[in-house]
Parts: sequence; C-alpha cells; structure tokens
Amino acid sequence: MTILGIETSCDETAAAVCRNGEILSSIVSSQEIHSEYGGVVPEVAAREHESWLTKVVEKALSNAKISMQDLDSISVTRGPGLMGALLTGACFAKGLAQGLRIPCIGINHLEAHIFSNFISFPELKYPFLCLLVSGGHTQIWHVLELRKYKLLGETRDDASGEAFDKGARILGLGYPGGPSIEKMSEGGDENAISFPQAFADSDRVEYSFSGLKTSLLSYVQETGRDKVEKQIRDVSASYQYSINKILISKLVKAVELTGVNTAVIAGGVAANKRLRELANEMMTECEVLYPELSLCTDNGAMIAYLGELYLKNGFVTTPHFTIIPNLKVVDSD
Ligand code: KG4
Ligand code: ZN
Repeated sequence: MTILGIETSCDETAAAVCRNGEILSSIVSSQEIHSEYGGVVPEVAAREHESWLTKVVEKALSNAKISMQDLDSISVTRGPGLMGALLTGACFAKGLAQGLRIPCIGINHLEAHIFSNFISFPELKYPFLCLLVSGGHTQIWHVLELRKYKLLGETRDDASGEAFDKGARILGLGYPGGPSIEKMSEGGDENAISFPQAFADSDRVEYSFSGLKTSLLSYVQETGRDKVEKQIRDVSASYQYSINKILISKLVKAVELTGVNTAVIAGGVAANKRLRELANEMMTECEVLYPELSLCTDNGAMIAYLGELYLKNGFVTTPHFTIIPNLKVVDSD
C-alpha cells in the first residue's frame, strides 16, 4: 500500500510517501517568513502553503521514485491547527484524491505525533505512555492500542512549546523559541536562576506554564535588560531547565501511577536535547524513546504513516470529512 501524507496545520508545508510502514520520502518546507513577525501569521501561513504545496508534493513523489498513479490513498491533517492553513492542505488533498479516484483520509495531527515513534521504532509495543509536547499541547497519554487512548494529565494553560516561544520573545531571541533558547543555553549554568516548576510537589499529573513566563518577565524587569543580556546563556539555560525538569518529573509520576514500562516523547519540544538527556537521567524505571529529530517537529511522514495504519485497520474517514481547528485526541474512557 502506498500513501501520500500532507501536513499544513501551521507553518510547515510538508509531504511524504509511506509504503508498508516505510517512509520512502519526506519533504518539509519551513516558512521562514514568520520570523520577521516573531510568530506565525495565520493568513500568511495559508498563502505560503498554497504557493508551496504543488512543489513539495511533486518533490515527495519524485524522491520516492513513484508517480501519482502509484498512490493507493492520500492522508491529510484535518486538525488541530490554523483554519486557513488546514483548509489549503485538505482542499488540495481532496481534489487530488478525487482526480485519482482514491480515498482521502483526514488525520489528527496530535495522534500522528504520537505514532511518529513507530517510524523510528517499528518494534514499539503497546501499551506505552506518550509525553506529547508541541506548540499548542502538553499532555501525557496512556496508549493502549490504535484509537484507544487515556489522557493521564495535561497543562491547565500554556503548552510547553508556547512557554519556549513566549520566553524567547521576552528575551529577544528568535522564533521559534525552542531552538533559539536551546542554542542560547549552550554553555550556560541551568542552576543560576531558580524559575518556578508548577505543581512540582503535587502527585497529580498536571502542568501549568503561564506563571513561568510571568516569572521570566518579572526577572527581566527587575534585573534590567543590559544585565540580562550579559547573562543571557545562564538565563536561557535556567528557563529551559525549569520547563524540561517539570515535563519529565510528571512523566516519571505517570510511570509510577500506571506501572507501564515504556514511555515515548513526541512533538516539537521532543527535539530538545537537554530534555532527552534529563529523560535518560530521571527515567530509571522505564525505557524512554524519542523519534529522530526530523520526526519531532511537524512533518508529512507521520501523517502518511498513520494514514496507512488507519487504512490497514479498516478505519477510513468519509470523503466529506471537514477540517477541525480545535480537534482533540479522544479519551476512550
Ligand atoms: O510539533 P510542532 O512542530 O508544531 C505543533 O504541532 O505545535 O511543535 C512546535 C513547538 C514550538 O513551540 C517550538 O518552539 C518547539 O516545538 N520546539 C522546540 C524545539 N524545536 C521546536 N522546543 C524546545 N527545543 C527544541 N529544540
Ligand atoms: Zn505538531
């Protein structure tokens, strides 16, 4: 079975080809234009997708050495994401599928992040826990099997990726904030400043990152911009540490609560190297896995992979599916 996966939920125009669980090609075109504005401008993102989609899809097909006629199906992100950005991808995918007379499957972007771990680790077995850390979500899932998931906890407010992005903006670093804070943290002392880790003393699996961002802002205002500039590596490393430490502490709690002995990490923040190191250091009772870096941030490979899995298991969305900007992963309880 050969599937084309298309991803346009935010600021990455991406397409990939998956055949029998193997990724034959994966093209990601990142929209650099948003760095001028310090964040993603939805209208600009949609226009960029519209102008890049054909080229990205053609490149994915040619890199996979196949033609459109070899495709058995097309899968596309239907949510969550930016309305205009999702629409460009979904309309493109539906039109192409209709022209080729093949099914078009709508895919949940968050669920695809979770399943990206199977691309890096085909031997991964259910059940496992997944710390899902992206720009809009921070959740811990108990994954029992395909379409059977239990939400163990999530953030009450900002997502961890958002904490990186907002923190970077406060510090005058570039967008996206995660990679720029990670880079600025190199050589910094992560214990220099003690930023808050919400609910650290509670046994509950729950996060909150809005206070952290406020605490960084107060620190910058009290210390003064000039002084912060001089100690920017220490400030960045300490801020990064407080996010990473609480993320993994609660994953450790989730392992204790469930007794599940495999955990995976997924989503853009999973690309953070210090997060991975901390997971290795702190998760002594449990095997912990993270997908290769290119599969952490948004990509078409995870959409193609999950699309194929859905087809193989007989779950096909109706061709009339709609995009859903606030689509959730369903807790099967
Ligand atoms: O999964 P993703 O690419 O898009 C969403 O589905 O939201 O995640 C994007 C988020 C952004 O907030 C970005 O700052 C963060 O992932 N991110 C990182 C790193 N790379 C991307 N955060 C920390 N360290 C990184 N290396
Ligand atoms: Zn994502």
